[in-house]
Amino acid sequence: MKDIKIESILTVYEDYNELPAAIVSLMDTASKARLKAYAPYSKFLVGAAILLDNGEVISGNNQENASYPSGLCAERTAIYYAGAEYPDAKIVRMALTAGSQKQPTTTPIPPCGACRQAISEYEVKQDSPIEIYFMGTSGKVVKSHSLANLLPLGFDRSFL
Ligand code: THU
Repeated sequence: MKDIKIESILTVYEDYNELPAAIVSLMDTASKARLKAYAPYSKFLVGAAILLDNGEVISGNNQENASYPSGLCAERTAIYYAGAEYPDAKIVRMALTAGSQKQPTTTPIPPCGACRQAISEYEVKQDSPIEIYFMGTSGKVVKSHSLANLLPLGFDRSFL
């Protein structure tokens, strides 16, 4: 037997203002989407913005439901719409921002496991990396150069 080591390299920006202008713009779109989230139960608002290679920007936010599991995360709301509306476009990057209405959210909030799996589907489909930037409502911003970098040992279509 042998051990294997799996490494993920992330880039950390100390502040939103350190981001390149194009990323600030996408993050601003994500922030606007966050403020429109429907999250009456968790009071945790999440916004996502997606840049496609055709120049279109798609945004989404979390949509909760009194039957809790029927709700959907911001990332999947946005990416499924992108897939539905622009099935042939590639996703260049995603910007994610999340914040609680109960307390300040200053740590970067990564996408949940189910959203990583959903984003992975599109990364594998398009055969090119999707950059992911994520933050709270202020503070540090984390960049991952691909979804695979956030989901080691992912399950994908190659196994089917
Ligand atoms: N949420 C997202 O929108 N994205 C994630 O990656 C994690 C969680 C939402 C789901 C739910 O509406 C609220 O945040 C609390 O879990």
